[in-house]
Amino acid sequence: MSAQDRIRNLSLQSRLMSAAQAASLISHNANVGMSGFTGAGYPKVLPKAIAELAGHEHSAGRPYKINIWTGASTAPDCDGVLAQARAINQRLPFNSDRDVRQEINNGEINFIDIHLSSVAQLAQFGFLGHLDIAIIEVIGITEEGLLIPSTAVGNNQTWLDLADKVILEVNSGLPLQMEGMHDIYQDNAIPPHRTPININRADDRIGIAHLKVDLDKIVAIVESNAPDRDNVFSEPDTKSKQIAEYVVDFLTHEIKQGRLPKEMLPIQSGVGNVANAVLAGLLTGPFEKLYGYTEVLQDGMLDLIRAGKMLTASATAVSLSAKAFKDFVDNIDFYRERIILRSQDISNHPELIRRLGIIGMNSMIEADIYGNINSTHVMGTGMMNGIGGSGDFARNCYLNFFVTPSTAKDDKISCIVPMVSHVDHTEHDTQIIVTEQGLADLRGLAPRQRAKVIIEKCAHPDFRDQLQDYYDRALKTAKGIHTPHILTEALSWHQHFIETGSMKK
Ligand code: COA
Repeated sequence: MSAQDRIRNLSLQSRLMSAAQAASLISHNANVGMSGFTGAGYPKVLPKAIAELAGHEHSAGRPYKINIWTGASTAPDCDGVLAQARAINQRLPFNSDRDVRQEINNGEINFIDIHLSSVAQLAQFGFLGHLDIAIIEVIGITEEGLLIPSTAVGNNQTWLDLADKVILEVNSGLPLQMEGMHDIYQDNAIPPHRTPININRADDRIGIAHLKVDLDKIVAIVESNAPDRDNVFSEPDTKSKQIAEYVVDFLTHEIKQGRLPKEMLPIQSGVGNVANAVLAGLLTGPFEKLYGYTEVLQDGMLDLIRAGKMLTASATAVSLSAKAFKDFVDNIDFYRERIILRSQDISNHPELIRRLGIIGMNSMIEADIYGNINSTHVMGTGMMNGIGGSGDFARNCYLNFFVTPSTAKDDKISCIVPMVSHVDHTEHDTQIIVTEQGLADLRGLAPRQRAKVIIEKCAHPDFRDQLQDYYDRALKTAKGIHTPHILTEALSWHQHFIETGSMKK
């Protein structure tokens, strides 16, 4: 079925045009709300057309840059082509594209790193400026003009509500049988008029299956036929498997202790290879009848659903490898019954995360001996991807895990350091840190007690003595010893790496 056939509202067919024509409707400096979340549901043909437009404008000596707000990361054929064309001025709230990362870190792009649950409301409050245009991928339009959402919902309903104009990309390369998988609940009330969100179980549905738009705002419809980004994962290595084992053992122990219900609590899993490996660990673990309440559904969670270990998963995006996506399409009727895709302010909502009692697992770049976590900055100054939803979950979870191998870059970097070079999650939120060396349960511990457990359990042996030595000297010399530090030395490990290529002293 062609994209045109998927536009069942015939009055809208007259708005079909080429990507180049649609791109010409987007002016320099425009604030653009785009669909897209972790390599899923992003526009596939318009970004290239906008990049070409930027190229023409630049060759003619005219400036052309736009500000792009999405759900989360997109893909090389979206963010990548726009960055290469120097067409991005401001970008929010998350990115994982290499070219964009480079432009962020050389000062070309103003990147605003925002908790994913907060983006929609910040836009609604007017804090981000005026939204000029929305570019939203959909997989079809119904007779009544309702939009069938794509593989990611993200902030799409908010962009459709706030933007002056709307461009739709109708992608015939994604399965139309996804219709009915989504649960779009939108309450645009702002304080003091908000009311509780009535989700009491991970599998509750409270909205409708479609996105709504004022049809008069649609200025262009563009056809596409392309898959999402192939979100390939590396096979879990020994370290990731070890981390997964610690997590599974810990959860089993918590159930035995009566601190976790037998039927477990819904699971959130962050982005990245290690997080995916932890899900693989749950596949062989002793738990049954699991629920997922997460932002992005990756291969590992699909495996749990297929195996019957997970009953339902709620997310905002299905972000899979090409291989897993084939299975998703081949068995779409099975998965439609078991997957719910929601807006990201619902998938990541603090009220719901706390009510449902989510078990959150997120990867990190580094942790310090007191439990502060850096998820975003390499050596304190370079942006990696962004905080994503890790803060939404970490602060509000029933239990939160932060996981990482104990070292990076051929063991030259210790991921446990005296003081993190950037703080995303504070010691006040962090509960459990896991590396392949062990698991540090920080619940109910004061800073000096935490340092002991983190150094003993999580640090790599190559760095353990060095950390212990730092801590011992800090304890002897610091003026206040609630959280002992040697301020002139606390970040010296990072400086040493920058100067010598290693944190080993
Ligand atoms: N210092 C410097 N670099 C480090 C590092 C450290 N302490 N720890 C890891 N890295 C590097 C790795 O070497 C690797 O580099 P490469 O891309 O050049 O190979 C890169 O960071 C990714 O590390 P990896 O071990 O492969 O982890 P990952 O794929 O699991 O990703 C994060 C880890 C932290 C980057 C990723 O999870 C992330 O962006 N998290 C923040 C957002 C988030 O948590 N979202 C989920 C919310 S639902």
